Amino acid sequence: MSLDQLLDGLEKATHDKAAPPDSVKERINYLTDEIDKHNYYYHTLDDPKIDDATYDAMWRELQELEKAWPALRKPWSPTLRVGGHLLESLAKKNHATPMYSLDNVFSMGEWYEFLERMGRFFEQTTHDSLPTDFWCDPKLDGLALELVYVDGVFTDALTRGDGMVGEVVTDACRTIATIPLKLKGEKVPPLFTVRGEAVMYKSDFQELNKNQTAKGQRTFANPRNAAAGTLRQLDISVVKSRKLTFLAYNIGKVEWGDEEPVTLHSDLIERLKSYGFLTPPGGILCTDDIAIEHYVQDVRDKRDEYPMEIDGCVIKLNNLNAQSALSFTARAPRFAVAFKFPASQVETKLLKIDIQVGRTGVLTPVAILEPVSVGGVIVQRATLHNADEIAEKDLREGDYVIVQRAGDVIPEIVRPVLKKRGAEVVTFRFPEICPACGSPVFKEVGQAYVRCEYVSCPAVRLRSLIHFVSKSGLDVPGFGEKLMEQLVSKGLVRLPSDLFKLKPKDLLDLDRMGEVLATKLVDALKTAREEATLEKLIAAIGIHHVGQQTARTLADNFEDLAEVGWASVSMLMQLPDVGPEVAQSIQNFFQTPANIAMLEQLYEQGLWPVNKHETDKHVESPLRGKTILFTGTLRIARGLAQKYAEELGAIPVTGVSKKLNYLVVGENPGSKLTKAKALGITTLDEKAFLTLLADQGINPELK
Ligand code: IVH
Repeated sequence: MSLDQLLDGLEKATHDKAAPPDSVKERINYLTDEIDKHNYYYHTLDDPKIDDATYDAMWRELQELEKAWPALRKPWSPTLRVGGHLLESLAKKNHATPMYSLDNVFSMGEWYEFLERMGRFFEQTTHDSLPTDFWCDPKLDGLALELVYVDGVFTDALTRGDGMVGEVVTDACRTIATIPLKLKGEKVPPLFTVRGEAVMYKSDFQELNKNQTAKGQRTFANPRNAAAGTLRQLDISVVKSRKLTFLAYNIGKVEWGDEEPVTLHSDLIERLKSYGFLTPPGGILCTDDIAIEHYVQDVRDKRDEYPMEIDGCVIKLNNLNAQSALSFTARAPRFAVAFKFPASQVETKLLKIDIQVGRTGVLTPVAILEPVSVGGVIVQRATLHNADEIAEKDLREGDYVIVQRAGDVIPEIVRPVLKKRGAEVVTFRFPEICPACGSPVFKEVGQAYVRCEYVSCPAVRLRSLIHFVSKSGLDVPGFGEKLMEQLVSKGLVRLPSDLFKLKPKDLLDLDRMGEVLATKLVDALKTAREEATLEKLIAAIGIHHVGQQTARTLADNFEDLAEVGWASVSMLMQLPDVGPEVAQSIQNFFQTPANIAMLEQLYEQGLWPVNKHETDKHVESPLRGKTILFTGTLRIARGLAQKYAEELGAIPVTGVSKKLNYLVVGENPGSKLTKAKALGITTLDEKAFLTLLADQGINPELK
């Protein structure tokens, strides 16, 4: 049966309110399991078995079927991973058993002391000698989480919090592909609580910061902060867009039921893998002191090679009964310890603090350092993020400072070395005018950022042009920062549209430029213009808060830039991953005359991609793309009326404004009708609305 036939059948069945056909149930079950399986191959095993298009097709089919038959959606359906909603705040919940922290040791000597204390305590309580086997794995630097599975189905996720009470982050965790929504295997325990770490891989962290910079949003100091900040996000679509990875290393409260309980930590790791979890990479069983010593040394040496940040090893007694006998102190287990590695920190001089003006006009202070090697990498600049950070850390120009590569990725200044502070140090004063154009700068209420708002600021223009042609924008090969700086300083380019007016001969005066290269660059611009999609163009024009993902959403929903510009804030907020801040920012962009002029010039130059909506995908209806609102008592349930209107492409809104296209009026309409009439908005009576539905074969039951 084709999907169309299936959906036809479904539509009839929905309206007849008949029970779903078995074929639908079977198909939903099949797709749920199949997608889950391929998600596991791809994300957990890193070994995809099918191509993206096949996976996407299964996804779309499942989504359609679940939309038609919501009751058949499984609680572990992969479509629940999508997120797309906002939470008001994070709830709190008790851990069934406390989530302890770990004590630390910093040297082999301290480890042997810990081991001796462990042995003594064990002998006193059990009159037996301590087993010699220890499980060792890397200590992951992320956010500790507890996940609860009831009858194998994921139900709750809590952060560690204070160890007793954690914050509920279930919705955020559902979007993490390496968290199974259902435990794998035939037999699963009735209650299974797993503990582990949510981390952001170094590569994903770099990607995130790059995107944040491109969007003019705050960057994160290290992957741990990024992971923690992401999981505590109330906007679940943001969580989904940032890649987190969960690795399991322990259990909390478990009722094994018919499942065989595990008695060794090494077996627990195998069991966790069999349930579909990732576990910390390179964990091993060490059966004597030498093996532990080697392991610690080896992890320390290879620290930079792990995909995630690690800040040490964890050494745990392998025998779980022996673990129980040792139990916990008030703070930490007696049977496990963290062997911490020192962060790579070095001292250098803070020569001065520069201000960089980004494409969104944000002024970012940057520390210029005496070059120094940190963990094998030469560091000479470090971002200071904003004025508050400089004040909090009490940094002065001329100070000696401790620098570390946070998470071995991004250099950051930890603190000044106060005892070396001389009289010549200079307190940094954040500029009140933009260093690039001299306009006064503004601090947004409630934000740490200072911004130059002069639309023609040369620094903003240059950064915007660099972004326009960058990978996050139109992606024009050959156009890097240096070239753009020259084009701007020679007066060849002021607006993005000027790029498309360039002739090879205009470029010949530039550094290291010959005719061949000049022709190649002009051709690259031509190709980029021809191949530009609406999505790329939206991302390229640099609307504050609009990155590639939001650009895709907008491009999926609008025909061209003009349509995006006409959309009201409430219309924009109907779209996935567009919240109030993003919607407002889009509207502000299109209300700024300089931006409109810039877009007009692009249009003149023929850069104006138009989306051809596939008409066969949608039913053609006069409601498509129109905003709609209902008022008064209708004979059709309000929710159903909205749902059908949406199916015909209308966008339901909540209030009457000039942007409202249709007001559907039932019995006893209220003030909405009065207001709509005053604004000259088209009204439809219920009969007219039902006729529109009937034209598309929708004949709802009336009250
Ligand atoms: S085992 C009873 N293994 O580090 C505690 N913990 O700083 C058993 N952590 O709270 C924990 N990597 O959340 C274990 N491989 C690993 C770990 C790990 C990171 C966390 C853990 C703990 C914190 C202590």
